[in-house]
Amino acid sequence: MKVIAFLSQKGGAGKTTLAVHTAVAAYEAGFRVVLIDTDPQKSATVWGEARQEEGPVIATADVADLKRVLEAARGDGMKLAIVDAAPHAAPAAAGIARAADLVAIPCRPTAFDLAAVEGAVRIVKAVGAKAVFILSACPFRAPEIAETRDALGVFGLPVAPVEITDRRAFARAVASGRAVTEFETDGKAAGEIRALWSWLQEQMA
Ligand SMILES: Nc1ncnc2c1ncn2[C@@H]1O[C@H](COP(=O)(O)OP(=O)(O)OP(=O)(O)O)[C@@H](O)[C@H]1O
Ligand SMILES: [Mg+2]
Repeated sequence: MKVIAFLSQKGGAGKTTLAVHTAVAAYEAGFRVVLIDTDPQKSATVWGEARQEEGPVIATADVADLKRVLEAARGDGMKLAIVDAAPHAAPAAAGIARAADLVAIPCRPTAFDLAAVEGAVRIVKAVGAKAVFILSACPFRAPEIAETRDALGVFGLPVAPVEITDRRAFARAVASGRAVTEFETDGKAAGEIRALWSWLQEQMA
């Protein structure tokens, strides 16, 4: 079983949006997936409760129990675990990073978000976790996207070639317990998510 954790200490960066979408994309690709919500705000859990569709197993766990929950998922034959993190303080975030095969750090293309990624980078480097950036909620064709991509370059971590655009479809799909690949199967948002999932898979290999 592989583990991907969505981590950033910045609230609203896109962790939950990307976690639920990656979980559904992997499920649609035929994986047995568990989505583990470690955020006390339980956004991913609420999304799971609203779902009607088949899909990933949803588990809610305290960060302190993550190791045990991952072991149980492995025992149940899960092939992928997606961990959604809260904007946790450093020790909890480090525990999540340590448990992950790949840490995905979402970053919106804004100066504030860029300034905040350093905290997550410090954590993944301290624990020696493999990590990548994902540009999230990007305004359509804005110059800030390329600027943020360049600025992230200084950290020496891969940046996903696909950008996740700021689209109402993401919020609408999540509000109804779905993912964009279920909500607008052939839409642009769904295309971005499938491209992201296939890139994340390459990064884990
Ligand atoms: N690509 C996108 N397009 C449109 N809206 C988005 C996109 N990504 C995120 N959002 C919206 O931005 C808000 C924050 O996103 P999300 O909850 O995924 O962030 P988060 O990092 O999990 O936040 P928190 O740290 O509070 O858990 C949500 O309202 C979500 O619907
Ligand atoms: Mg969240």
